[in-house]
Amino acid sequence: MKIILAKTAGFCFGVKRAVDTVYQEIQKESGERIYTYGPIIHNEIVARDLKEKGVEIIEDEEELRKLEKGVVILRSHGVEKKVYEILEEKNLRYVDATCPFVKRIHSIVEKETENEKLVIIIGNPSHPEVKGIKGWGKENVFIVENEQDAKNISLSDKKQSICIVSQTTFNHNKFKELVEIISKKGYDISVCNTICSATKERQEEARDIAAKVEAMIVIGDKHSSNTQKLFEICGEVCKTTFYIQTLDDLDTSQLRYVESIGITAGASTPNKIIEEVQKECQI
Ligand code: F3S
Repeated sequence: MKIILAKTAGFCFGVKRAVDTVYQEIQKESGERIYTYGPIIHNEIVARDLKEKGVEIIEDEEELRKLEKGVVILRSHGVEKKVYEILEEKNLRYVDATCPFVKRIHSIVEKETENEKLVIIIGNPSHPEVKGIKGWGKENVFIVENEQDAKNISLSDKKQSICIVSQTTFNHNKFKELVEIISKKGYDISVCNTICSATKERQEEARDIAAKVEAMIVIGDKHSSNTQKLFEICGEVCKTTFYIQTLDDLDTSQLRYVESIGITAGASTPNKIIEEVQKECQI
């Protein structure tokens, strides 16, 4: 059996940094209660471990407003500007583990909307990262998720300046397609391709491997948007592509007759799970 494991599989720099931040706070044993603003990553196994270690999740602003003490960790996805304001107002200690690449988008959106530009975020409107990015602009921020949204953009002022940014984990080719549709409308457009290179490299490597193997395994939490995208990309070039969360989901009987397997994993998949799957495939 030939197994090709993607070099880019697993935690990206930003996620590793955020997860390490939480474990560092746990190790401090300061007696302070530890909270993360939303789950630190989209991975049930890590989430369970943190829960056992006493880390609690604050789901939204309302819950944050009720908090009197403790340390709040902001995850790699980032948050709306308003969340920082609440933390300051309440004088709560917080550790900002927002990925620097996401922080950069926050600054762009804040600056461009202050300059009266209209900002278009290309991304999934229900994803926390996109909600966070939107929260750094004024009213003039729109989200485009698909072709239809891009086609629907119609502004009365043809001279309106538009700045386009992207969710960091958005599919690179889809981003280009949507930018092209918007560009044809004749507005004054500046494009900031804010797709993280970790995502692009992971997507490209996954596609390359999937094209070479008979079966492809994509490992990641079912709620992880970057894993879903990897699955989509691999499925385009390899018909036998599986999406699993852990080794338990892997049906090895379906791999019995294949001679080559590729493995990749989303940015929030711990190494331990990837190793377990790799080992199982080698048997
Ligand atoms: Fe940051 Fe890129 Fe990961 S934006 S969180 S390094 S996917």
